[in-house]
Amino acid sequence: MREWPSAIADACITDPPYGDTSLEWDRRCDGWVTEVARVLKPTACIWVFGSMRFLATVFGEMEAAGFRYAQDIVWEKQNGTGFHNDRFRRVHEHAIQFYRGAWGDLFRAPQYTQDARAKVVRRKTRPTHTGNIEAGHYVSEDGGPRLVRSVIDVANEHGKAVHPTQKPLGILAPLIAYSVPPGGLVIDPFMGSGSTGIAAATLGRRWIGAELNPDYIALQAERTRQPGLMLETA
Ligand SMILES: C[S@@+](CC[C@H](N)C(=O)[O-])C[C@H]1O[C@@H](n2cnc3c(N)ncnc32)[C@H](O)[C@@H]1O
Repeated sequence: MREWPSAIADACITDPPYGDTSLEWDRRCDGWVTEVARVLKPTACIWVFGSMRFLATVFGEMEAAGFRYAQDIVWEKQNGTGFHNDRFRRVHEHAIQFYRGAWGDLFRAPQYTQDARAKVVRRKTRPTHTGNIEAGHYVSEDGGPRLVRSVIDVANEHGKAVHPTQKPLGILAPLIAYSVPPGGLVIDPFMGSGSTGIAAATLGRRWIGAELNPDYIALQAERTRQPGLMLETA
């Protein structure tokens, strides 16, 4: 990353090693926030995935690099990866958005689904001094835009993943569409099997990534050659 130019990227969307286990690929990497801060434009954001144990340690680094908390989403997976049988079964991960610059200047494209449900809104009887009008109700139509909820249910990649912690394209897509302008540049310093890059390219955004393990870089090349690789959205 030290070779990447400064102030070129609109956003960073990344899934670093959480350091929650002693597994070979799960070693924490320090100093990445400072380097990402350099590569991002002055007004930009960072979405970082992680367990709460990991993310709690990220806040201080973000603050030191001039980034503030904006919001967080929960990725709900059907089957979790619990390491402990004496706790709740963990079936979710968080992604937190940090930003710098003025919130109003930051690119934000709220995401909608066209599946608002019909609503029945009951009207009260009007008081007699305004005339006697019977109570009634107003019925809205099915369909129509609804803001995407902050808890996003997307199946994990168990059984089809080529990387041990592969993120589904369906959880990356709404974050990219929300925070990277069309044609904009997203960076991911921990690419793994390249999910951020694939989702970005599919949505017409440019990307730059880094990955330590050459085997995973080979996987990225393999995945991007697959015909018909589609975004699976919730
Ligand atoms: C949690 S995984 C990312 C998986 C990715 N989201 C995907 O969908 O495939 C983290 C990745 O960071 C890589 N990594 C660890 N330390 C690194 C470093 N210092 N520089 C670059 N990559 C690193 C690991 O090899 C691993 O592939």
